[in-house]
Amino acid sequence: MTFFSQFPQKRMRRNRRDDFSRRLVRENHLQVDDLIYPVFVLDGSKREEQVASMPGIVRQSVDLLLFQAEKCLRLGIPALAIFPVIDASLKSLTADEAYNPEGLVPRTVKELKKRFPELGVITDVALDPYTSHGQDGLIDANGYVLNDETVSVLERQALMHAEAGADVVAPSDMMDGRIAAIRSILDRDRLIHTRILAYSAKYASSFYGPFRDAVGSAAMLGTGNKYTYQMDPANSDEALWEAELDIQEGADMIMVKPGMPYLDIVRRVKDKLGVPTFVYQVSGEYAMLKAAGMNGWLDERACVTEALLACKRAGADAILTYFAPVVASWLQENT
Ligand code: PBG
Repeated sequence: MTFFSQFPQKRMRRNRRDDFSRRLVRENHLQVDDLIYPVFVLDGSKREEQVASMPGIVRQSVDLLLFQAEKCLRLGIPALAIFPVIDASLKSLTADEAYNPEGLVPRTVKELKKRFPELGVITDVALDPYTSHGQDGLIDANGYVLNDETVSVLERQALMHAEAGADVVAPSDMMDGRIAAIRSILDRDRLIHTRILAYSAKYASSFYGPFRDAVGSAAMLGTGNKYTYQMDPANSDEALWEAELDIQEGADMIMVKPGMPYLDIVRRVKDKLGVPTFVYQVSGEYAMLKAAGMNGWLDERACVTEALLACKRAGADAILTYFAPVVASWLQENT
């Protein structure tokens, strides 16, 4: 063996040596255009509450939310996703408040669209904020979530959101056939511009814990679970099947949720279908990163940026993240 043959023939480190060449060979970039900010909205005025398990995140009344919306717009964030905190007195077995045209969500949508027409508004279509048992649908005497009965309520809810001016309705309930049903009711009323963002691969994940605290559905749900409609974390082929159906049924974009533990799913869906694929970095992911950052165990800025870039690398076109405004401000500092 000659002396030289001990050296590597190919040197991968050459491109990594300097910042200029690292920048030139960089395959993925995180941009403000990728971000969607999920927000929690409350009834009333001048109300703001901290979410204990999500430091830095608040539930707030619409008047205060407008300031956040303005900030997002100024930072260049394309869209907000609204999640309502519904007063317990308005929750019921039949979730009637879900399609009340005077309800919290339509009022919020109208305010936002009036003040900031160019800011995209996404609404969540699901019944869990409105049911007295915290499930995403109507239940039978055994507590089983009824599919078709739920879909007829979801249709009314989605229609009402679209009529209030929501740009995107996002069914996160995981009932079968809801995308087709919502598309046809929107078409019937000539609401042809309303996009449907389908939570196609929504897993029955324990990473939603802090969100359920934030919207107050945890107390309602108690020891209940969502295993009969949300996906089994063990499954992957099934996610492709779900996403394919939702596209066939008329979805414009699809979502994989949660994010970081499910990036393999994002990649498979993107490769197989080649459609706009979003990912939701959920409340539990936020809580983990935030807690470790606050304790000085992780460098929050570096780890958040890395986690979001990993979503892009996995194939996500956009990311719902509670870090959206702070990330947008970091991106501005970088340029
Ligand atoms: C319910 C809904 C959930 C989330 C968004 N919409 C939770 C659930 O299914 O219980 C979770 C979001 C998060 O954890 O950040 N329709």
